[in-house]
Amino acid sequence: MIVCHCHGVTDREIRASVQNGARTCAEVADCCGASSGCGGCASLVAEIVHGERRRLAMVRSDAAASPLACLAGLSDAPGAFQPA
Ligand code: FES
Repeated sequence: MIVCHCHGVTDREIRASVQNGARTCAEVADCCGASSGCGGCASLVAEIVHGERRRLAMVRSDAAASPLACLAGLSDAPGAFQPA
């Protein structure tokens, strides 16, 4: 869906900008141009940016809480299983 009609930027492009490291609406504007024209899309761009940041934070915390995360670094422990 096109969010920014001034620059033809879609919601997917805005989310991709956040996934590629943009953290603020200004950084997203630098990345894909969204909300850098008339400003009419600014509130929707902000909503998408913050939503994507929340989603990424949840994905990262889920990965850190994974049962396998506790195995990181154990292969060097004395007596730890060493695959052949
Ligand atoms: S609609 Fe996005 S800057 Fe104008």
